[in-house]
Amino acid sequence: MVELARFYASRGLKISRASMQYVWDVDGVRYLDLHTGHGAAFLGHGNPRIVKRVYRQWMEIGVCTPQFECNIQAEASRLLSSILPEGWSVFFQNSGAEAVEAALKAAWLYTGRVRVAAFKGSFHGRTLAALSVTWNPKYRSGLPALEMVDFLPFNNVSGLDAIGDEHAAVIVEPVQGEGGVVPASIDFLREVAKAARRAGALLILDEIQAGFGRTGYTWAYQRAGIEPDILVAGKSIGGGFPVSMVAARKDIVEALKGRHGSTHGGNPLALAAVAGGVEVLTSEDVPAKAMVRGKELMELLAGIESLRGVRHVRGLGLMAGVELRRNPGPVLRCLQERRILAIKAGITVVRLLPPYMVTPEDLGVAVDGLRECIRREAGG
Ligand SMILES: Cc1ncc(COP(=O)(O)O)c(C=O)c1O
Repeated sequence: MVELARFYASRGLKISRASMQYVWDVDGVRYLDLHTGHGAAFLGHGNPRIVKRVYRQWMEIGVCTPQFECNIQAEASRLLSSILPEGWSVFFQNSGAEAVEAALKAAWLYTGRVRVAAFKGSFHGRTLAALSVTWNPKYRSGLPALEMVDFLPFNNVSGLDAIGDEHAAVIVEPVQGEGGVVPASIDFLREVAKAARRAGALLILDEIQAGFGRTGYTWAYQRAGIEPDILVAGKSIGGGFPVSMVAARKDIVEALKGRHGSTHGGNPLALAAVAGGVEVLTSEDVPAKAMVRGKELMELLAGIESLRGVRHVRGLGLMAGVELRRNPGPVLRCLQERRILAIKAGITVVRLLPPYMVTPEDLGVAVDGLRECIRREAGG
C-alpha cells in the first residue's frame, strides 16, 4: 500500500461531494464551505458553466502544446481581453507558486538586476524563488532559499525608501492572505507603485488569493488606481481547475522567450476552465456581488468584535479575518462541528473565504456560529 503524504494536519472530515458553496460528508451532512480549498473554489464547487466547458474541451482536444494552435487559445485570449489591460500578454502555469516564480524570472531577465523587495507577512508560495519572497521563516528554515530578498514593513510608507536601483522587482499582495488577512491601505499601494517606478524596479502584484472579483474589484489593485507591471493570479481563475497565470506588458513577457516553458502550462483544459471562469466573473458580475456580500459580512463581524476573545476583525470584500487572542484551532474545530468550514491565517486569525454565491442567510449562520464558538473556545 502506498500512502498519500499529507503536509497539512488532517481536519478529520471525509467529503463525498460538493456543489457551489456547500460540501457534504459521507453521511450526507451538509457543510457551508468558507475554506473553499484555500480559496480555490471562490466561483463555487463545480460551477456548471466551467465544468461544461472543461468537459466539452476534453471531448474535443485535451492536450495541445502552444507549439500548435487550437481554438480554445483564441477564445481564452478574447475573453481575457475584457479583464486585462489593453496590449498586455499573458501565459499560464499550473500553480500560484509557479506563476510567482515565472514573474520573478521575467523581472530578473528584463531588468538585469538581482535583488527583490518583498514585505513582512507575505506569502507567495513554496517553490524556491517564491519561498524566498515569503516572509514566514518557518517555511524557509532548513532550505537554501535565495538570499536576494529585502523584507520591508507592510503598510508602512517610510519603509519604502529602501527600494533602490539594485531591485529588479517589488512584489506585494494587495491583501495579505496567509499572513493574517491584512488589506494593504490604498495609500500604501500607491506609494509602493511610486517607489518601484522611481527605482526602475518592476511592480509585481500577487493577486493569487485576492484577485478575480473576491475583494469587490476584478483585481484588488484597481481600488488604488494603480497599474502593476506584472500581475499574477491563480486559485479561483479556473473555478477549481489547477491553473495560474502571469500577465504583463508585452516587452516584459518577451524577456522570457527561450528561457521559460511548461508542459501543462496553457493546456486546453486549463484554458477552457479559465474561459469559463472569466465568463462567470463578467456575466454574473461577481465583483459587484462580492462587494455587497462582503459589506454584509463585515457588518455582521463588527457585532462580534467586542467579544473578549477577539482582538480585531478586518477584511475586504469576501476575504475576512477575525483575529483572536489565541490560536484559532479550537474555534475552527468548533465551527466544523457546527457544519461550517473556515481556515486559519497567520498565528491567531480565523480566515473566511466565502464563494461569491454565498447568501446573506449563509453569512448569518457563519457569524452566529463564530460568536458561539469564540464564546466557548476563546475566552468569551
Ligand atoms: C498570495 C498567494 N501567493 C501565492 C500562493 C501560492 O499558490 P499555490 O499554493 O497555488 O502555489 C498563495 C497560496 O496560498 C497565495 O495566497
